[in-house]
Amino acid sequence: MKNITLESTDSTNKVAYKLALEGAEHGSSVMAKTQTAGRGRLGKFWVSVSGKGLYYSLILRPNLDLLDFSKVTLLAGLVVSDVLEDMYEIPIGLKWPNDLYVGGKKLGGILVESSPLNCEETDRFMVVGIGVNVNHCNLDFPEDIRSASTSLNIESTKHLGISLIIAAVQEKMLSRINEVEEKGFNEVLSDWKQKDVLIGKIVEMVNSKEEVVSGVALGIDNEGILQVRDTEGICHQILSGDVRLAQKRQLNQN
Ligand code: BTN
Repeated sequence: MKNITLESTDSTNKVAYKLALEGAEHGSSVMAKTQTAGRGRLGKFWVSVSGKGLYYSLILRPNLDLLDFSKVTLLAGLVVSDVLEDMYEIPIGLKWPNDLYVGGKKLGGILVESSPLNCEETDRFMVVGIGVNVNHCNLDFPEDIRSASTSLNIESTKHLGISLIIAAVQEKMLSRINEVEEKGFNEVLSDWKQKDVLIGKIVEMVNSKEEVVSGVALGIDNEGILQVRDTEGICHQILSGDVRLAQKRQLNQN
């Protein structure tokens, strides 16, 4: 099991993915002080201010059915939020599928990239990329995301080393993966539901026809799929994409 620390790289996910393709073991990881091309979900850029954030990617080769791979994404968000709550003593919410929120602002996010579809079953892997704003002050965030972003430094009076957080996240991720391999995801999904920041809120998302659909978030089901009921009472299952809180409009929901 290799744990690599880099001063600077394009993306720890990219490095970890390459290592995984070359056969790196379950539990191997890559962390960096900064990234020049940090990747976010949906092709977005992940701002990686040097030394201020946690930029870490963990390689997993879970002994799970392929259908359960998407639930590992939820597990990762849950584990990181649990670890940070314990260490920093602040409540952390989860926005589906795996954004970390404090007081309505984004603290971090997770980008999971899985092995190619044509991969042999025995070679399958996932790279769990974790980005957390740790030592940022408000001005460290680019202007366009400043009012919507926060950091542990802003939210808590505690100041802990980034490598300490990473060690705790790695240990808990590996132990919870062992647990789900044995017992399944029921406990993870019910723990996740306790931290769901969208439940009961009016949200907006873009459907497959590129239309904006609004509705009330009903929470995740037993497969980890988000359920949203629109104004006409139709229930939508959200498998991927971006879901945001509707800001100004009020819908008539029963
Ligand atoms: C998101 O909220 O859009 C997910 C952000 C994930 C960022 C992390 S930082 C470490 C790892 N390397 C990357 O390039 N991305 C992830």
